[in-house]
Amino acid sequence: MDKKTVMIMGATGCTGSALAERLCRSGYKVGLMGRSQEKLAELKERLMACGAAEEDVATALCDATVYAQVEAALVRLELQLGDTYGLVNCVGSLHLRPAHTTDIDDWQEVLNTNLNSCFFLLKAGIKGLRKTRGSVVFIASAAAQTGMSDHEAIAAAKAGVIGLSRSAAATYARSGIRVNCLAPGLVETNLTAAITSAQALKEASTAMHPLGRLGQPEDLAGAIAFLLSDQASWITGQILGVDGGLANLRTKARA
Ligand SMILES: NC(=O)c1ccc[n+]([C@@H]2O[C@H](COP(=O)([O-])OP(=O)(O)OC[C@H]3O[C@@H](n4cnc5c(N)ncnc54)[C@H](OP(=O)(O)O)[C@@H]3O)[C@@H](O)[C@H]2O)c1
Repeated sequence: MDKKTVMIMGATGCTGSALAERLCRSGYKVGLMGRSQEKLAELKERLMACGAAEEDVATALCDATVYAQVEAALVRLELQLGDTYGLVNCVGSLHLRPAHTTDIDDWQEVLNTNLNSCFFLLKAGIKGLRKTRGSVVFIASAAAQTGMSDHEAIAAAKAGVIGLSRSAAATYARSGIRVNCLAPGLVETNLTAAITSAQALKEASTAMHPLGRLGQPEDLAGAIAFLLSDQASWITGQILGVDGGLANLRTKARA
C-alpha cells in the first residue's frame, strides 16, 4: 500500500519532532516545515537514523506567519512526497502577561504565530487534502477553555484555533476531510522551559494537573497520531483535552 504523507509545520519543535519520529516509525512519509534550515537538516538526519528512508522525508523552509511562504513550502513538499494526507500545525509561542502590560506588538505576534499560522496552513493545504480525503490536526490549549490569569493573548489566539477547527470540520466534512484539535495542559517543551526549569513554578504547575505530572511531547504526538489514523475515521470537529485533567476536573485537596 502507498505510504500516506503528513506535513508537519513547526516540525523542529519538541512536539513536532516527537510526532515526526512517531509517524516515520508507523510508515508515513513526512514533510517537515520549519524556519531553520539547520534544525530541519538535523531532524531529517535523526529520522533517518531511526530507520526512515531518505525519499520518505522532505524539508521546506517557511515562516509560518507569511502565507506565501507556507503555500510555497507545501507545493514543494507535495512535489517530492505526493498529495497531503495529514496536515498538522505544531507552531506556537507563549506570552504570559495580563492585558494591561501586553504590548500591541506582542498581542499581534501571538495571534500571527498561533492563529494565523493555522489558517494559512489550512488554506494552502485544502487542495491536496481534497484529493486524499485527509485529516487536519491543530493544537489549541486548555487555557482557551478555562479562564487562567495572565493568559489573555494566548487564550484568545487558541480559542480562535478551536473556532477555526470546528468550522473547517463542518465545511469540509462532505469532502471527507476531518479536522480535530488538541487542547493541552502544560507540556515540558522548549516553549515552557522558563516555567518548568524553575523548581517552585514547576511544582505549582504540576499540582494543577490532577494526574500529578506535566505532559511530555510524546503525549501530544500520540494523540495527534491517533487523530490522523484510520482508527479515528469517524471523529471530526472534536477538541481533545490532553491535559492530565487540568481543564475539566476538580480533585479533593490532598491532606
Ligand atoms: N508546551 C505546552 O505546554 C503547550 C500547551 C498548550 C499548547 N501548546 C502548543 O503545542 C504546539 C507545539 O509547541 P511545543 O510546546 O512543542 O513548543 P516548541 O518546542 O517551542 O515548538 C514550537 C515550534 O514553533 C516554531 N515556530 C514558532 N514561530 C514560528 C514561525 N514564525 N515560523 C515557523 N515556525 C515557528 C518553532 O520553531 P523553532 O524550532 O525554529 O524555534 C518550534 O518548532 C504549539 O502550537 C503550542 O502553542 C503547547
